[in-house]
Amino acid sequence: MGLSNNERRMLKAMLSEPERPWTLQELLSESNWEDQVHVAGAGKALEAAGLLAVEETRFRQVSLGPEGIRAVENGLLESRLWEWIKAQDESDRTIKNLNSSDFEKSETGPGIGLLKGLGIRIESGGLVFSDEREISDELSNRSEFLSSLSSGPVDEGSIDGPMLDQFSSRGGLLEFEDSISRTWCLTVEGRSVDVSELSEVKMIGELTPEMLQTGSWKDAEFKPFDVSAPAPTPAGGRRHPMQSLIERIRSVFLEMGFSEIEGDYVQSAGWNMDSLFIPQSHPARTMQDTFYLGNPTVLDVDEHYLDLWARVHEHGHDTGSKGWGGAFDKEEAKKALLRTHTTVNTVRHIAENPDIPSRVFGIGRVFRQETIDRTHMPEFHQIEGIIHEPDASLPMLVSTLKTFYSKMGFPDVRVRPAYFPYTEPSAEVDILWRGEWLELGGSGIFRPEVTEPLGTEWPVCAWGMGLERLAMLILGLDDIRQLYQPDLERLRRMPLL
Ligand code: PHE
Repeated sequence: MGLSNNERRMLKAMLSEPERPWTLQELLSESNWEDQVHVAGAGKALEAAGLLAVEETRFRQVSLGPEGIRAVENGLLESRLWEWIKAQDESDRTIKNLNSSDFEKSETGPGIGLLKGLGIRIESGGLVFSDEREISDELSNRSEFLSSLSSGPVDEGSIDGPMLDQFSSRGGLLEFEDSISRTWCLTVEGRSVDVSELSEVKMIGELTPEMLQTGSWKDAEFKPFDVSAPAPTPAGGRRHPMQSLIERIRSVFLEMGFSEIEGDYVQSAGWNMDSLFIPQSHPARTMQDTFYLGNPTVLDVDEHYLDLWARVHEHGHDTGSKGWGGAFDKEEAKKALLRTHTTVNTVRHIAENPDIPSRVFGIGRVFRQETIDRTHMPEFHQIEGIIHEPDASLPMLVSTLKTFYSKMGFPDVRVRPAYFPYTEPSAEVDILWRGEWLELGGSGIFRPEVTEPLGTEWPVCAWGMGLERLAMLILGLDDIRQLYQPDLERLRRMPLL
């Protein structure tokens, strides 16, 4: 019979109990297999020969998602809210008190929806309920259910339906993984095979120099290759998807004739903001939005620039502008902070090269006080760039951005009027993604209030785009945190860029 050794081995094992279906585990433990892939491969060949039938069952496994793990550690949002409600006197159970409690703003909104789902009503601003017992029972069922998943994935079929509905509609609590299990069963023809015909023959899978030297290959059989046999995907090393994306962006800009620049994370408020004509009273400059450093608290800033910015901010200097008025505070400009945008790199580049035309870009990390959620993180990246030359213009800016995004795979780009204190005109940049326009960043032509103190009279096209948003589109993610969690399985499955 023209069967390979693996096929013979599999058939022989199954003939010891010819009537029943065999699972992969049973076949593996029956005789010595090097690899489970061999069982699957042999099964496929035997099926093609009509000796056995394969049955595939698909099933879903449910496990805890990142939010689910957090809920097991800290308690479900609704349970924490319920504890809070029970701890208040009846008259203090109000939405107003809830809003001024320790709960985050991002929790109270969805939290109220969850409480309503539990039968808690809002009556003239107060939270009221009738059956305390019922709510407590439901909540302990929910917590118990989540904890039961902490010891590993569970088959979806074994989970209570309403519980599954409750949690699967809430982002990040559960994760689902589809798998297939196979069983093999002999056909009538397979059962009639004579075991004595199934002794293993020497089959050559790989030809070695020894076989050629001794000529032993002459009496052996060659194993045919089965290029369609199922095989595991080798988990070799790969670059982190963010790193690959950064490298792709880098090569697109280099190919477009730009050079790369870099800068420090720590900057003075002067370079990060005052040089960009951001008024010293701007709300984004407060500690709620910007990380100021405790050590050092101030940085040296060249007096020359402090003087120029002071004049421009106070009365416009020779820029044709009236400035912001008021008194410019040089001490404020010396404060040390973590850069809030990479525009600080491009202005510093112009200050250092005021009479050299340049096209430069940089991809760098920036820092802002943000509450972490699906679309925000306190650290993220920007793709920044400028064209600084005598003929720089708005059409040049727009066509540069269009070229960049189409090279990245997004041919539809549009700009809309916008406002930044440092550009005029200013434009928001959107790309078309599955029929929707998504905002990716800001751009414009630097105002004279910015360029004059830097020592140039040429126009400057400037832009600063978000990197993470683009990464999420390209990688098909719906949560920015997925980019940075060290979840090797998920990282391995992300598309190669
Ligand atoms: N710095 C702006 C931001 O962080 C983007 C921008 C850069 C806008 C350059 C105009 C010009 O959103």
